[in-house]
Amino acid sequence: MKALVVTGKGEVPSVADVVLPPVGPGDVRVRVRAAGVCHSDLSMVNGTLAPSYPLVLGHEAAGMVTEVGAGARVSVGDEVVLNWAPPCRECWHCVQGEPWLCADGGRPSAPRGHLVSGEATHVTLGLGALAEEVVVPSHAVVPVPAGLPADVSALLGCAVLTAAGAVNRTAEVRPGQSVVVIGLGGVGLAALIAARAAGADPVIGVDLGKAKRDLALAAGATDFVVSDDTMPKAVRALTGGRGADHAIECVGRSATISAAWRATRRGGQVTVVGMGARDDLVSLSALDIFHSARTLRSSVYGSSDPDRDLPALATAVAAGSLHLEPLITDRIPLEAAPDAFARMSRGEGARSVVLF
Ligand code: APR
Ligand code: ZN
Repeated sequence: MKALVVTGKGEVPSVADVVLPPVGPGDVRVRVRAAGVCHSDLSMVNGTLAPSYPLVLGHEAAGMVTEVGAGARVSVGDEVVLNWAPPCRECWHCVQGEPWLCADGGRPSAPRGHLVSGEATHVTLGLGALAEEVVVPSHAVVPVPAGLPADVSALLGCAVLTAAGAVNRTAEVRPGQSVVVIGLGGVGLAALIAARAAGADPVIGVDLGKAKRDLALAAGATDFVVSDDTMPKAVRALTGGRGADHAIECVGRSATISAAWRATRRGGQVTVVGMGARDDLVSLSALDIFHSARTLRSSVYGSSDPDRDLPALATAVAAGSLHLEPLITDRIPLEAAPDAFARMSRGEGARSVVLF
């Protein structure tokens, strides 16, 4: 089957033939119908993260189950969204009701499948979903109601679960609260959509260039502010001089985390969704931490339980209460995925979704 593979740090990804392993006990084979290009995939390519190579990219996808191993918990024909952090349900965090912090998650994955040359391939976040097919443990797929467009379903698996969870579960945004979202890629735009759906007002989008303004407004932002040194001041001007009740940081850089901190009010909350680099240190004044009484939190996979929350999001989309169309700016074949990585590096557009 064809898959998007990167052979080393900084290399340009390309389409390659990959042989998947057979479906073992508890595994399923999924024919991927749509897969999004997420910044975490770019981080696998550009060295922000340090995965093993060669690596099949992709972790945000939807498809249909075509084969099940013994004991798999889904059936052939099920429409599913892939889950890149399947909880074990047994570790301390899972038992505490924090499955997004499952001790099993985030481990480097063993190679899965091989190139036609015979070389073993690794798969991004246990999935490798920018591919015609995946073979994964059945707890890494979540059945969703049939009939949703595959491109929209795909986004549920990363950008939307992450962003909607950050807004509703981590930040617990309430109607009437002010929210500023910094970084308007697929994740940030999904956070704007979720903040509006939660009744927040104003909802302020922040990104580097004015080019993101129209996307922000289409996603429900009431205001757009360019990301520069004056951004916190502009946000205070839009929020009664105080600063926002909530900042949702969707870039993953120390500079934008600091800016998010300064853009929130005394007693406000910064929720960090962006995944940054290990050596990018955030510096905050000890006095300001005390005096501002702000909270700094991170939101891993939206503090969500995908088994519970993915079907709920799919139902909201089907019912028309969650409009995700503004997130998709490019629908492309697999061969065009390398261009989507280049666009993302330049900060252009929202999500590119590969349709198979
Ligand atoms: N200020 C404001 N916006 C910025 C800045 C900055 N200093 N630097 C980059 N951005 C914007 C980019 O212009 C782009 O619009 O952040 C956005 C990032 O979007 P994508 O690259 O599409 O990333 P996305 O997939 O949305 O992921 C965002 O969340 O899950 C994590 O690993 C992921 O850290 C990444 C973040
Ligand atoms: Zn992702």
